[in-house]
Amino acid sequence: MDAGPKDQARPTLSVNVYEEFLAEYPEYRSTAHLDALRASDYARLDVQGVVYLDYTGASLHAESQIRQHAELLSAHILGNPHSASPASSRTTSFVEGTRRAVLQWFNARDYTAIFTLNASGALKHVGESYAFEPGGRLLLSADNHNSVNGIREFARAHGAAVAYAPITVPELRLDTHRLEVMLEDADRTKTNLFAFPAQSNFTGVQHPLDLVQLAHDRGWDVLLDAAAFVPTNRLDLQTVRPEFVSVSFYKMFGYPTGVGCLLVRNDALARLHRPWFAGGTVNFATVGGRRHVLSRGEAGFEDGTLNYLSIAAVEIGLRHLASAGVDAIHTRVMCLTGWLLSRLVKLCHSNGRPMVRIYGPITTAGRGGIVTMNFYDPAGHLVDYRRVEELAGDQGISLRTGCFCNPGPGEAAEDITEEDIVAGLAANPDLTLPLFLQMITHRGGKSAGAIRVSFGIASTFADAQRFDEFAASLRDQTRLTIGEATFDIESCRIIRDGS
Ligand SMILES: Cc1ncc(COP(=O)(O)O)c(C=O)c1O
Repeated sequence: MDAGPKDQARPTLSVNVYEEFLAEYPEYRSTAHLDALRASDYARLDVQGVVYLDYTGASLHAESQIRQHAELLSAHILGNPHSASPASSRTTSFVEGTRRAVLQWFNARDYTAIFTLNASGALKHVGESYAFEPGGRLLLSADNHNSVNGIREFARAHGAAVAYAPITVPELRLDTHRLEVMLEDADRTKTNLFAFPAQSNFTGVQHPLDLVQLAHDRGWDVLLDAAAFVPTNRLDLQTVRPEFVSVSFYKMFGYPTGVGCLLVRNDALARLHRPWFAGGTVNFATVGGRRHVLSRGEAGFEDGTLNYLSIAAVEIGLRHLASAGVDAIHTRVMCLTGWLLSRLVKLCHSNGRPMVRIYGPITTAGRGGIVTMNFYDPAGHLVDYRRVEELAGDQGISLRTGCFCNPGPGEAAEDITEEDIVAGLAANPDLTLPLFLQMITHRGGKSAGAIRVSFGIASTFADAQRFDEFAASLRDQTRLTIGEATFDIESCRIIRDGS
């Protein structure tokens, strides 16, 4: 009889394996309070038998966060903040209190916190408002989320040159020597912006935060995308001093969605020129005079009415993260990551062929709690990541597949060339990632996508072990094709049965 996800997700903790894990990672014991938190605040995971392994996609909310937010909303009359009524003032005090809490969290006393919809909204602010100019540059790490890659369109439109700093195979870290050369090669009389992630959402690589100073010393402004870093790492903006930092709060503590933040160093605020104004962002605007005066500070960037009810939940989330302890979460996710990596790299089919390819470093040095991989069958053929996701889903395991909106690391690891991409687009102008994956797999056995497992605040050893068992269950399996779909190489289209 098939066991449902519920049955399968019950902790199958083999005492020996757990004891061995603890012997190898004794510091894990210091995070035992997170097991208690999981039982009290994330009980739904075990009740429903879900193994959640996509904390980089989104953290999970604690039940207590929701309770506290509901109590807060029930206790107060909160009106639109754009007026001076008591209901409006109450809202303003919650929003401003949250803003102070965010600045304090990042030790960002000389920064401005601009509330946005999400990290992408924060990044778009920089893209559309940064003073790109001909002769100036935008330098992007080849490892960047598409919401950072997209800034290149603003830079191009304003005549700035766009370049990518390469990452090296197999660890997929920035080539710091090459980067230094590229940073040197800038006209210091122009505006130059360097953008990189503190932690890759593809590989988990933590690019050195020292790069901020390296770029500053060569006359660059720096945009640090901290979205994947801050849920499990401390970021102290008195130690690391980028001009711009982007975060999404649901990635840090699951709830609320729809609120992110752009932190701007106060002395860099003047480098952002808003291309428009909106309700809430002006001190004065006329129709007849065709003039407006933009509000100073964060107000000039917060278009329309803020998501003020949700913003009130951000402080609750920060308190929750503080009580769990970011350092403890970091310790825990690194123990789980180290253990899982060491297990996966050893997995082999009976014929001795390796089952798994890891993207990025295979030790815990200079990386965070993300493990990204592909599986291969006994003949050495790539297993379609969608099939792996399907099989994992059948066992109640939620993981992430694809390129995670970050195409650079996969392209570097698989040596995907511009010709591959041009050929794909020529075959099908409506190219999607799954179609492209099929095409390059057929042509050269390459992969454009992968499978990502990531750990976070509510992760336990049982979660990591469940994934390890699932991975081991693919040993010697040969029939790992996707459902009924076949791929037509001529049209570069997936054809499903009957379609
Ligand atoms: C590193 C990184 N940057 C930016 C983003 C975009 O975040 P959001 O979708 O919340 O705007 C993500 C989301 O996965 C991310 O991982």
